Amino acid sequence: MVGLTAQARDRKNFDAGWRFILADSAQMSKPKYNDSHWRKVDLPHDWAIEGDFSASNPSGAGGGALPGGVGWYRKHFRIKEVGRYFLEFDGVYMNSTVYINGELLGNRPYGYSSFEYEITKYLRTGDNVIAVRVDNSDQPNSRWYSGCGIYRHVWLIETNAVHVRQWGVYVQTTPKGKVTVNVSVRGKGEVKNTLYDSDYNVIDVSSGYTSNMKVPVSKLKLWSPQNPNIYRICTRVSVEGRVVDEVWTTTAFRDFRFDPQTGFWLNGVNMKLNGVCEHHDFGCLGAALNEDALHRKLVKLKQMGVNAIRSSHNPPAPELLNMCDTMGFIVMDESFDMWRRRKTQNDYARFFDEWHERDLADLVLRDRNHPCILMWSIGNEVLEQWSDAAADTLTLEQANLILNAGHDPSTLANDHSTSVNTLLCDHLAEIVRRYDTTRPITAGCNEPSPNNHLFKGKGIDIIGFNYHHEWIKDVPKNFPGRPFIMTESVSALQTTGNYKMPSDVVYKAPEQWWLPYTDPSFMCSAYDNMHASWSSTHEETWDVVKNTPYVGGQFIWTGFDYLGEPTPYGFPARSSYFGIIDLSGQPKDVYYMYQSEWTDKPVLHLFPHWNWIPGDEIDMWCYYNNADEVELFVNGKSEGIRKKSAHQYHVMWRVTFEPGEVQVVARKNGQVVGMKTIRTAGQPDHIRLSMDYKGKNTNFIVAEVVDRDGNLCPWAEDQMFFVSEGDGKILGTDNGCQTSMESFKAPRRKAFFGRCLVVVSGHGQLTAKSYNLKPASISF
Ligand code: GAL
Repeated sequence: MVGLTAQARDRKNFDAGWRFILADSAQMSKPKYNDSHWRKVDLPHDWAIEGDFSASNPSGAGGGALPGGVGWYRKHFRIKEVGRYFLEFDGVYMNSTVYINGELLGNRPYGYSSFEYEITKYLRTGDNVIAVRVDNSDQPNSRWYSGCGIYRHVWLIETNAVHVRQWGVYVQTTPKGKVTVNVSVRGKGEVKNTLYDSDYNVIDVSSGYTSNMKVPVSKLKLWSPQNPNIYRICTRVSVEGRVVDEVWTTTAFRDFRFDPQTGFWLNGVNMKLNGVCEHHDFGCLGAALNEDALHRKLVKLKQMGVNAIRSSHNPPAPELLNMCDTMGFIVMDESFDMWRRRKTQNDYARFFDEWHERDLADLVLRDRNHPCILMWSIGNEVLEQWSDAAADTLTLEQANLILNAGHDPSTLANDHSTSVNTLLCDHLAEIVRRYDTTRPITAGCNEPSPNNHLFKGKGIDIIGFNYHHEWIKDVPKNFPGRPFIMTESVSALQTTGNYKMPSDVVYKAPEQWWLPYTDPSFMCSAYDNMHASWSSTHEETWDVVKNTPYVGGQFIWTGFDYLGEPTPYGFPARSSYFGIIDLSGQPKDVYYMYQSEWTDKPVLHLFPHWNWIPGDEIDMWCYYNNADEVELFVNGKSEGIRKKSAHQYHVMWRVTFEPGEVQVVARKNGQVVGMKTIRTAGQPDHIRLSMDYKGKNTNFIVAEVVDRDGNLCPWAEDQMFFVSEGDGKILGTDNGCQTSMESFKAPRRKAFFGRCLVVVSGHGQLTAKSYNLKPASISF
């Protein structure tokens, strides 16, 4: 046999040493093309995030106002021996065409799908060149920032002639500890599966293309967000006694169901899905996958009490699912934001007819072994819910507003006949069920009526609405015997650090979805008192979810702010206001409301800051738990005791500002159990740097403007400059401000309400300087 000297497959990360150019010529696919002047890049790479914001970029503010275009990547590599080789792309946005040594391998329009090409027959010993054309020039094609380029990992896989096919191991488990493994092998070999626990102790062994194994019930540890117990399966293929391939799969055991009366159950425990929707970008790092940035996101969400993630509205990076398996997040794996009817001019609808079957099947085949996935979503707010909804003539900004509201349910067929749209929904569900029958199917619907074409067929197992919490009381009547979750909820609007008073008024922005919303500040309110016209405050929806047993849970729009869709504003706003955590990773105040409800951690969060004009009336809010009452003191004088009553999630005092300090004291059974003090900051004096998150290779450092005594100066907007020494490199800067036009890649950033973020890779020392502030340094 020609090929591997090592026994099994060799899966090499293929990210390093590419060349890139933002230009287009058919010559660029040719092996002899001279690319020596192209820029050197390592993948994952997103060229859009390197660009400048502009109102004239065709992505529009809804797409992040960053550039698109056509880019090419090339990589030269040598191989010693010609074996069987495959190139695997986890995701290229979008419309990629891949060549090897000048030969066309294929084209993949959908930017979120993973795909593989076998390259064996084109390889030569000696120099080989891969060329990838990425075409993201037809814009807008997304309602949020997509990024541009080979933004996920690439792998070079070398196998023997006999090997496991791509996604060729299929593992199914039962809550009682049974495991079935089906293995699809190219060529003939003997298959042996070994089941290991998380410490690599062998639990069971079985042979055959289909094999059954078991964890004895006495040893079985179920998977849950609290205890994400995982197991591993090693699949070995042998020919004449020699191992020729080896594939590892993570698995787990869990018992879950969605009940029409009582909601969601996991391992016999009735619980809520306390979920968030997430887009795939990493703020100033763009769409380029960065495991540290991803882990930082998940750690922050976990600490908030989040137990579920929706990969809105597209197939996620494989790394997200790997982390959710081991960190304990339940996942709704979603495929599409549109089907045949487009939402933006150049979106996936133009590829849907030709590609949906392949893209959906590949998603399920790639992901179905992940224990974290408990449901599939076949679409988000697709226009096929209605008989006659089309957005073909809308601008991206109009689409983002209009698609959220403004449909007339009377346009739905009333005769209960099966419509084409219902059949399409059932067809998509059938594709999913072809490959996985162990998980229910849902779709994020914004038409809550039972006449919704998607609800009328057999495709949807879990009724899912987006928003419309006022319709939830009718769910048992409208959908008898069918389980329900809020596939998407809330869409409150907040800017970190900006407080709109009086705070006990709820501001809708805009008042109606068809009206413009203008506010020269281009900010929203960090109190939970502002939301879009189709949505609610955080507290309002949580109260319904918490107190309605048949609601299995919700997926809040969104965990983190993301690039694009800056509702309620247009340019120069270019990133969202919806996040519970801002784009720079700074939790907004409402983060602590959820933490107080969703975790047992003691929470006592008082806000806003204490730097106002003497005499101003200020609303002080407090989120707390594990206490009977809280009392506020201004410069030692009590402003009264507050206790939360049922359906109340924060308390408030309206107080008159005077410089000094404001303090909240929490008591339980008469004993003080917590205390928080905020002091009026004096003149900005120096910069304080602190490590927000230290990753394996990427570090997130927060720079704050503080006074002499270390109090945060909440109004500071000082321009900071960053210098990195050692082998560290500045990867990006941000401050969470939705309208900042500063480049994400420039080594400087203005403080926004006193803070900003700098992201550095490697090891070294970072120094932050500013005109009127003493500098600071930190090692990383
Ligand atoms: C939903 C939609 C999301 C986002 C959100 C903003 O209707 O599914 O993608 O647009 O509204 O509120």
